[in-house]
Amino acid sequence: MKDVILVTGGLGFIGKKLVQKLKDEYSDYKIVVLDQYIRDYDDYIRSDITDFGEIYTNVKRINGNIKYIIHAASEVGRINGEEHPWKMIDSAVKGTLNLINIALEYDAKLVYFSTSEVYGDIFDDKEVVEEDMLNVSPLTLNNVYAISKLFGESLVRHYVKNYGLKAVGIRPFMVYGPGVYSSKYKSALDIFAWKLLNEEEINVDENCVRSWCHINDFIDGILLIIKKHNFHNKEYTAYNVGNNKEYKTIEESAEFIRKELSKDTSLINIQRFNGKFKSQSKYFKIDKLESLGFVPKVTINDGIKEMIDWYKKVKDESLK
Ligand SMILES: NC(=O)c1ccc[n+]([C@@H]2O[C@H](COP(=O)([O-])OP(=O)(O)OC[C@H]3O[C@@H](n4cnc5c(N)ncnc54)[C@H](O)[C@@H]3O)[C@@H](O)[C@H]2O)c1
Repeated sequence: MKDVILVTGGLGFIGKKLVQKLKDEYSDYKIVVLDQYIRDYDDYIRSDITDFGEIYTNVKRINGNIKYIIHAASEVGRINGEEHPWKMIDSAVKGTLNLINIALEYDAKLVYFSTSEVYGDIFDDKEVVEEDMLNVSPLTLNNVYAISKLFGESLVRHYVKNYGLKAVGIRPFMVYGPGVYSSKYKSALDIFAWKLLNEEEINVDENCVRSWCHINDFIDGILLIIKKHNFHNKEYTAYNVGNNKEYKTIEESAEFIRKELSKDTSLINIQRFNGKFKSQSKYFKIDKLESLGFVPKVTINDGIKEMIDWYKKVKDESLK
């Protein structure tokens, strides 16, 4: 029987790329995808993570020893959380508790996907580091997404501390790249590229700063953690995973995309930052990930050009 890596959310933006890379680099393992959609191919399990009976029964059918569970399945995004708070809470809290129990049953190592949003108001004061979370209360968070993910992380930590769960937390920062289909629930870069390509106006917050991480670099970071993190350490640990070398204002990113697409400046509508559901700036450290050897390679300008090419293809396909 082969050893298995189970990837929940394996049909999502991050999940798909992660599965490709795992298949290349972990060819001794069987890579099994779990997601909510109907698909008909080997090594795929359709399950809703909020339904314990369903996951339990389907996971039991896997032929192999589950060694890792990479838990990326979730309702995702700030706007999604505000519009669908019940679904968001269910997936991050109940879904995570379910996967924790599956990991315990199989003695598998769990990699939990949280979000940088959990830092909430701390972003207003400093470059955040992982340990800052020890002083965070849900009362300092800005959106339902962050609240639900923080609760998920708390559960993972609780089971590490008290029940022998082997797990690590991932706090992704602003991951972008080709492969996303834009909507109001997606990132600012996706919305800007897609709307400008389609001659639609974009609203751009003033004086907001972000540093974006290309999906390839992000996946490299995750693989480093899987390879090098000590899962036998009985303390809960989380890693900031992002690229903190590419800070830009949101206005600069919008302007860069506009120029690349040769669109009119009148399509950019600058608006005052209203402080609702998000932080004005996100400065962060990644020393912990760097100590494992992480070096991001893709510059924001190259990455955005690649993302624009992706959206051009999506548009061409949609016109056929
Ligand atoms: N993309 C980012 O910049 C970013 C930033 C912070 C955190 N994250 C986290 O990384 C993970 C992956 O994000 P992504 O960008 O690939 O999102 P995505 O929306 O593209 O993928 C999420 C996947 O989870 C699946 N899923 C959702 N609810 C499910 C359920 N109840 N049962 C089974 N499957 C379910 C979806 O079908 C989808 O395939 C998520 O946990 C997300 O919160 C991503």
